[in-house]
Amino acid sequence: MCGIVGYIGHREAYPIILKGLKRLEYRGYDSAGIALYDGSDIKLSKTKGKVADLEARLEKEITTNGTLGIGHTRWATHGVPNDINSHPHYSNSGNLVIIHNGIIENYESLKKELIKRGYTFKSDTDTEVLVNLIEDVMKKENTKLGKAVQIALNQVVGAYAIAVFDKNKPNEIVVARLGSPLAIGIGDDEFFIASDASPFLEYTKNAIYLEDEEMAIVRRDKEVKIRKIKDDSPVAPYMQELQLNLEQIEKGGYDHFMLKEIYEQPRAILDTFRGRLRTNEAIIKMSGVEDNMKKFLNADRIIVVACGTSWHAGLVSEYIFEDLARIPVEVEYASEFRYRNPVITEKDLVIAISQSGETADTLAAIKLAKSKGAFVFGVCNVVGSSIARETDAGAYTHAGPEIGVASTKAFTTQITVLTLIALRLARAKGTISSSDYRHHLIELELIPSKVEKVLKSDDYVKTIANIYKDVKNFLYLGRGYNFPVALEGALKLKEISYIHAEGYPAAEMKHGPIALIDENMPIVVIATKKGHYDKVVSNIQEIKSRKGKIIGIVTEGDQQVKELADHVIEVPETLESLSPLVTTIPLQLLSYHIAVMLNKNVDQPRNLAKSVTVE
Ligand code: M6R
Repeated sequence: MCGIVGYIGHREAYPIILKGLKRLEYRGYDSAGIALYDGSDIKLSKTKGKVADLEARLEKEITTNGTLGIGHTRWATHGVPNDINSHPHYSNSGNLVIIHNGIIENYESLKKELIKRGYTFKSDTDTEVLVNLIEDVMKKENTKLGKAVQIALNQVVGAYAIAVFDKNKPNEIVVARLGSPLAIGIGDDEFFIASDASPFLEYTKNAIYLEDEEMAIVRRDKEVKIRKIKDDSPVAPYMQELQLNLEQIEKGGYDHFMLKEIYEQPRAILDTFRGRLRTNEAIIKMSGVEDNMKKFLNADRIIVVACGTSWHAGLVSEYIFEDLARIPVEVEYASEFRYRNPVITEKDLVIAISQSGETADTLAAIKLAKSKGAFVFGVCNVVGSSIARETDAGAYTHAGPEIGVASTKAFTTQITVLTLIALRLARAKGTISSSDYRHHLIELELIPSKVEKVLKSDDYVKTIANIYKDVKNFLYLGRGYNFPVALEGALKLKEISYIHAEGYPAAEMKHGPIALIDENMPIVVIATKKGHYDKVVSNIQEIKSRKGKIIGIVTEGDQQVKELADHVIEVPETLESLSPLVTTIPLQLLSYHIAVMLNKNVDQPRNLAKSVTVE
């Protein structure tokens, strides 16, 4: 999950690559580097730290002219983040230079072989092994870079998106992908290479997305030649017109992407059900579901596979599918599912949820499920992503690009899509009455304006954040549909403020976590009117009698919890099944404000990356 970017054409490569790295920094940000070809040699600069650190030192270190270059922003896998392990990496001769996103799993055995053949290594990375393997093939086989990359990659086990060039052939960049995304932007006599299209949006709207096991030779002033890595056979390029625009990937006046994305939720939810939810006609139309209705209706059970926040959305969907459509659901961490020899049959329907559509564990879980004959349906945000392509059918969330590492609008739009599917199936199965069904549609349509209303409590949430920003631990409690929201609230706080937080089903508190409660422990309790209100009120009383500090998320006008809690944040009333769409919002805001007050890097929290394309 590093970011890679490259340029070959007639403009100065440096500013394009630098800006591209800033856009890709969400993918990894523990080190960064650039290699430029200045007309006679490679100029390379790299450093531990952010792209800004690279920018600060690069112009002092190297001349930045040249119309060919590659750049990298890293999320360390092999070797600690330091200057030496940063990319790009040279081959031993200094002729080749490479950037890489992914993991070469058999790098140690390859390295041993190369050492026997006289190669030396400066870094601890698998990437330096790969560039020397390519160089070795070039020498042994007396072949050009493109062919050598193809031969070398056939010896490699792992995942990669790479870009490599040879200073003796400075008219081409060779790129390849397996398991990590790679896009080629096609301009007028110029080409852009990047992990996603954001670095080249202002230059071209035309892009080719490499498929797994494909490589391309990108030649200055010429066309892009794509070949299969396995057998070197040619592939006809498929050019797509990008739908993204620059505004979508910029902060638009907000201090952080996370805040912008929290505030985008009314629009994102609306976009997600737009055209699908037709309340007047009382229908839900989703082609991915309609076209595969039999698969859905004949499924013995639904298995949801996902990671992180997407897994939490999956947990919400367990309640929705079972409640409304009476289909048994199992929600699995993709990382566990893929390795535990699960029982899957052709009668199972698997739903894979992923914002990025690139999460390695989720992708592997999908492949496993497909190999056992299950039908796999994807819920992804990124159009054309690996998961969107690997699944048998799917429905996109229309959240727009999510750049903040902490997922916000992806979560609410995933729940929106899953709710639409559950309602559609419930109607088809007859497990919901027509009045109840209509009621759901009407209420769902009102959600964007209700989320808008919750966002108005932002200043109040900020005052609560200020009171609790220095505590060491937080507890989040919820029941039923709001238990996964408690997990999600705790995850948000952990990942951006580094405060330890746990989410629990409210009633489980007495089986252990209650021991943690004292006057220093803030407990966020989701206690909306519908659902298990009375039971949750009892839980609040238990907390109160142990002097815990209660932050209640309550339905507008609630009195009972108000009297017990230290603070209450009101959310508009809605159906219980839709309540996660509103109760989540104050929890996102709370974690955001605490992190800002603690001076944390909200959009790029330590150790994390936006899409986890490695195991
Ligand atoms: O792109 P995905 O939805 O597959 O990503 C899954 C998780 O990596 C992601 O949700 C992660 O937990 C976020 N940092 C949560 O905010």
